[in-house]
Amino acid sequence: MPGLREQHRIDLAVVNAENAQRSGPQIRTGFGLTTEVAERLLESGIDVITGGNHSWDGEIAEVEKVLAHPKVLRPFNMPDGVPGSGVLQLSVSGSDFTVVNLMSKSAVAEPTPLFFRWLTEPQHVAPVWPAWQSIDRSGAVIVDFHGLSIFEKQSFAHAVDGTAAAVLGTHTHEPTLPLHLLPGGTADQPYFCATSVSYCLEVAQEIHFQAALWSDTPCGMPSDQDQSHPEDVVLSTGANA
Ligand SMILES: [Fe+2]
Repeated sequence: MPGLREQHRIDLAVVNAENAQRSGPQIRTGFGLTTEVAERLLESGIDVITGGNHSWDGEIAEVEKVLAHPKVLRPFNMPDGVPGSGVLQLSVSGSDFTVVNLMSKSAVAEPTPLFFRWLTEPQHVAPVWPAWQSIDRSGAVIVDFHGLSIFEKQSFAHAVDGTAAAVLGTHTHEPTLPLHLLPGGTADQPYFCATSVSYCLEVAQEIHFQAALWSDTPCGMPSDQDQSHPEDVVLSTGANA
């Protein structure tokens, strides 16, 4: 990070790290972030860490600990009682920034998501727009919009065009390619991925994502010993038919 910051003259480094640490046996509920990893990222030169549907993966005590860190965000538009915060205002190199983490309900596949553990009555992710309007924003506003729907993220970017510096879409694990500026000056990037076009295959083999297409059973986490290949998979309609 220090080299990248210098090379690209980066003032503010925001990273979505919701899948930074394997925290459970199932990919849908065990792919979160720990305090140890968060501190390593921050020490390396990251200014703000954002999250998403995996922000509450892991043991309750560890989740509460990492989300209590002032530089670790989770989606803002969550019900009262869910740990963590979703907005951070900070000053970097003499400029003010507001980093906002939002999440669409489309990013939450689980019928009983893990953030329900902190709620007495199940309440789902709140609508994005009223949440956005309630935020006290100052300086350059950077939005991490975590969602499955590209259309939704594009719509949001157009809706805030000229009032946000950038809307960066996360969650879909697609390569970071089509960055462009909207007419009002907001940078729109619906697919914001961590490192490279092969990110998905580095983290989880495609078989684990393909499994979800033909089964309601959450797919398991990849292991070092798992040498399965898509051609080895037998499509089955029996178990869930
Ligand atoms: Fe996600």
